[in-house]
Amino acid sequence: MLYGICYVSTLRSSLKPDELKELFVLCATKNISENISGVLLHNSGNFLQYFEGDEVKIKELYYGKIKKDIRHKNIITLFEKEIDDQYFTGYKAGFTSIIEDNQIASLRSYLNLLHYLDSSEMQALSKTVYSFLSAE
Ligand SMILES: Cc1cc2nc3c(=O)[nH]c(=O)nc-3n(C[C@H](O)[C@H](O)[C@H](O)COP(=O)(O)O)c2cc1C
Repeated sequence: MLYGICYVSTLRSSLKPDELKELFVLCATKNISENISGVLLHNSGNFLQYFEGDEVKIKELYYGKIKKDIRHKNIITLFEKEIDDQYFTGYKAGFTSIIEDNQIASLRSYLNLLHYLDSSEMQALSKTVYSFLSAE
């Protein structure tokens, strides 16, 4: 069964920019090797992450690692559910950590596409990501 989870959280202020970058690279590398797709965004001290893949792996990652990770706090699950498809496998290498502004433009275009092509949950996700990206 395929499963997707989306959450927001707050960065612990002690994390340095270099450490943040390292974390993003690690997430992308590990997820791609586990066939987990999605996006991880950071904006003004907040994270938004959506990730999808095998249900067991996704739940283990979220409840076993991400929720216990002390690098962030105030973790709020926006949704978690069974999904029919991995929507982000066609985007970049499958999992992207957004660091540069030009990546945001490309993500917006991809979300536009999802919004028109896919299910209502993906429309909700694309709206959530849009508002997260435009928040300051
Ligand atoms: C905001 C945030 C998002 C994360 N997302 C992922 C992720 O998508 N994949 C992943 O493997 N680790 C992610 N991590 C890191 C995990 O919590 C954990 O440190 C990492 O998986 C290494 O675990 P290990 O040392 O037990 O192998 C994230 C951490 C934070 C703070």
